[in-house]
Amino acid sequence: MQYVTADGLPPVSKIGLGTMRFGEKTFDPGLARDLVRRALELGITHFDTAEAYGWGRSERLLGEALAAEGVTDAVVTSKYGPLLPLPAVIERHARASRGRLALPQIRLYLLHMPNPLFPRRVIMRGFGRAQEAGVIGAAGVSNHSLSQWQAAEAALGHPVAANEVLLNLLHRGPLDDLVPWAARHRRLVITASPLGQGMLAGRAHLIDAALADDGREAGQRVAGVGHPVAVVGVLGEVPAHQHRQLGRAEDAGRGRVPVRAPRAGRPGTVQDRNARLLE
Ligand SMILES: NC(=O)c1ccc[n+]([C@@H]2O[C@H](COP(=O)([O-])OP(=O)(O)OC[C@H]3O[C@@H](n4cnc5c(N)ncnc54)[C@H](OP(=O)(O)O)[C@@H]3O)[C@@H](O)[C@H]2O)c1
Repeated sequence: MQYVTADGLPPVSKIGLGTMRFGEKTFDPGLARDLVRRALELGITHFDTAEAYGWGRSERLLGEALAAEGVTDAVVTSKYGPLLPLPAVIERHARASRGRLALPQIRLYLLHMPNPLFPRRVIMRGFGRAQEAGVIGAAGVSNHSLSQWQAAEAALGHPVAANEVLLNLLHRGPLDDLVPWAARHRRLVITASPLGQGMLAGRAHLIDAALADDGREAGQRVAGVGHPVAVVGVLGEVPAHQHRQLGRAEDAGRGRVPVRAPRAGRPGTVQDRNARLLE
């Protein structure tokens, strides 16, 4: 495992475990424990959760799994969903998340997304308060552009350590601005959905789902690529009969061709290969 450093954080593993699905009602707590144990064995020290994932269920299962392993110093990232981002509310929510995680401190606490209805200095004051009280370690943001990230930092008055954004082969925009800026200033960019929710892992049925319903919108999602090389990488792993559909989706993204819902796809080839490798 490789580790990176950033202002205000201990060394953090480059690969983290996202626990959004721990929030699903039917997610087996035993499986959550097994996944966290295996992640720790592999050297993962970064675990991502949010109060919004199952209204605290993900935080609770992650906390239980870390406690079962006796781990209290992992870099756990949680997030405040900014419905009413007033300072006292943010601090109260941070305390509640810390309680569900059963940790002495949330090492990294993010504003889940911008809320343009509230002044940034008011929102960031809440993060400052939670930091001063020791409830959280570093403050961060999520789904922020570079200018929004910098403005949050100016409002807080000290570094906003991280920004968690959609970043994968199909969504490479952050590589142009967020990533170079973060590298220059010892900040962290955390990728959300690095495998495009499985689409980049060869899950053909996700491509089908993306193309179904509204071809125009789906086209924008699939073809939001703008980087042919990424598509080629994806196509290499997608069943041949779907290459044409991806191409049409790209056109639909430009508003040219309506896309009809395709037939259900076959299981992804990369998954099969992964299963063999794991065996
Ligand atoms: N800040 C935000 O707004 C935000 C937004 C989205 C996500 N996130 C964070 O990012 C984390 C990851 O998001 P994500 O679940 O969308 O990530 P992802 O890695 O893009 O997609 C994960 C999905 O891909 C499938 N998959 C993963 N690895 C695979 C492999 N090797 N072979 C085949 N299929 C594979 C899994 O399906 P199965 O589980 O069915 O195998 C899983 O559902 C979340 O848990 C959350 O912590 C944050």
